Amino acid sequence: MLKLFKHLKPYTLTVIVTIILIFLQSIAELFLPSLMSDIINNGILKNDINYILKVGGYMLLITAGAVIVTVAASFLIARIAMSFGKDIRDIIFTRVESYSLNEVDKIGSASLITRTTNDVVQIQNVFIMMRMLVMAAMMGIGGIVMAVTRDAKLSIIFVIVLPILVSIMVLIGRKGLPLFRLMQLKVDKLNLVMRENLTGIRVVRAFNRVQEEKKRFDNANKDFMENSIKVNKIMAFIFPAMMFIMSTATLIIVWFSSIRINNMDMNVGDMVAFIQYSSMIMFSFLMGTMMFILIPRAQASADRINEVLDIVPEINDPENPVEFIESKGHIEFKNVTFAYKGAEEPVVNNVSFIAEPGRTTAIVGSTGCGKSTIINLLCRFYDIQKGNILIDGIDIRHMRQSDLRKHIGLISQKSLLFSGTIAENIKFGFEEATDSEIKYVSEIAQVKEFVDELENGFDTLISQGGTNLSGGQKQRISIARALIRKPKIFIFDDSFSALDFKTDSRLRNALKNEVTDSTVIIVSQRVSTIMNADSIIVLEEGKIVGIGKHRQLLDTCRIYREIVASQLSEEELA
Ligand SMILES: Nc1ncnc2c1ncn2[C@@H]1O[C@H](COP(=O)(O)OP(=O)(O)OP(=O)(O)O)[C@@H](O)[C@H]1O
Ligand SMILES: [Mg+2]
Repeated sequence: MLKLFKHLKPYTLTVIVTIILIFLQSIAELFLPSLMSDIINNGILKNDINYILKVGGYMLLITAGAVIVTVAASFLIARIAMSFGKDIRDIIFTRVESYSLNEVDKIGSASLITRTTNDVVQIQNVFIMMRMLVMAAMMGIGGIVMAVTRDAKLSIIFVIVLPILVSIMVLIGRKGLPLFRLMQLKVDKLNLVMRENLTGIRVVRAFNRVQEEKKRFDNANKDFMENSIKVNKIMAFIFPAMMFIMSTATLIIVWFSSIRINNMDMNVGDMVAFIQYSSMIMFSFLMGTMMFILIPRAQASADRINEVLDIVPEINDPENPVEFIESKGHIEFKNVTFAYKGAEEPVVNNVSFIAEPGRTTAIVGSTGCGKSTIINLLCRFYDIQKGNILIDGIDIRHMRQSDLRKHIGLISQKSLLFSGTIAENIKFGFEEATDSEIKYVSEIAQVKEFVDELENGFDTLISQGGTNLSGGQKQRISIARALIRKPKIFIFDDSFSALDFKTDSRLRNALKNEVTDSTVIIVSQRVSTIMNADSIIVLEEGKIVGIGKHRQLLDTCRIYREIVASQLSEEELA
């Protein structure tokens, strides 16, 4: 947790002021019982109204001062806690943005969300507790000093009561700690089930799995509840137990005091003050030990947050990056081999090819043969294990990631749109795009065709994940989004799969003039989409089994012939 607190630096001054305020508050509270005892001894017992009024006035003033100080301290603490929480969330978000896909897979998105929200709240709560801790420390020490100076003999009672108090708290803490740690895991699980069900709501309905999913959620929910109940049972026990011990202690004090008052060894005022100091001391010990229970709970959250912050992203910019401002778009894969984390076999095995500007390079192959992986590698979403990927002769690991991706217009296999309007989604590719530019690319990407029929046109809102659009519409918007960047390298990963043949060919014809001096890489399963490419790469289980033009490959590559044959017969059948 201390590690997280280094992010408190901007608030150092506020923290110091707050501690001073709490200090003042403690002093005020420590003086009140003393004054009270003076009023009883010198005012009430001696019937001195003036004295009562005078000291009572002081007490009133001190109390008023304490109120102001308390309010100010609470205000400052709330401010620090909330600002600190915001900072931590910012830091987590920025860090997660720098993750490579491997790291996101490692923690999981549901857990990342809980860590950014719920766990940060736990840390924020620490500040409220911190206040109690500081207060407890001051009141505890101050109370002991005051009590001992008032009546050293009577103070012996603390030697007996305080150890009992502390050991009970420690016992309870031992029992509660593991439960506190479990708590966050259960929240994680709850979030995971909820999220999966919301994103997969269509599948859940279609497969009639609503009942089962409800059960799954109920289980996670009940699990969470049961754990919370256990925690609260312990918490519920703490307070009455403590009250019992404190009241017993008070009783003992009154008992002994009354004997001594009887013997004229002590006066009533001292007894009242002593009782107040003793409850202050016990209360501060209570708070102190309570901290040792509550802080580990926050510590569990802090650990989870630190885990996110401590992951060193595998993919980093080089220390001395090669400047890569203009690109010709010459791509070369040189003996590239890559395996996903935890997989035994490489998914891309010794792949070498060249893709040149002004030409279209196509990649075909059966499903799961590694086509999208090659695209991921070119965008440096993952780092390769062997070989080199060069653009204009520069290894992509030697340039900044932003420089590399600036030149790439990627239309990924799964079209992903963001909540916002259609125009905003297209502008995602190039923030400064004008309306006429948006119209222009929309015409090429065949977006305009369906946008014109929408009531609000380009201002139509896309719901989260683009669920209110068809698959083909989403693909076309993704294409427009890439076009508007005017990149040197275009990558279409199965981007025409959801389009009918007519729209597909219309789109590709319009595209042709747009991408004339760019390097175009098209991944597709459809022979008709790629047969006119300048170079076709045939992939089989991560290996290249043929490179050439359509005609050439028909003669030389058995696997290509099989792919073509299977599709032609399918089309003929249809
Ligand atoms: N993030 C990942 N972690 C581990 N394995 C993966 C990951 N992504 C893909 N794979 C595996 O790598 C192999 C190649 O996947 P890839 O997505 O490159 O196939 P593809 O050729 O694009 O298939 P498709 O035509 O169906 O899109 C598959 O066997 C897949 O299971
Ligand atoms: Mg794919």
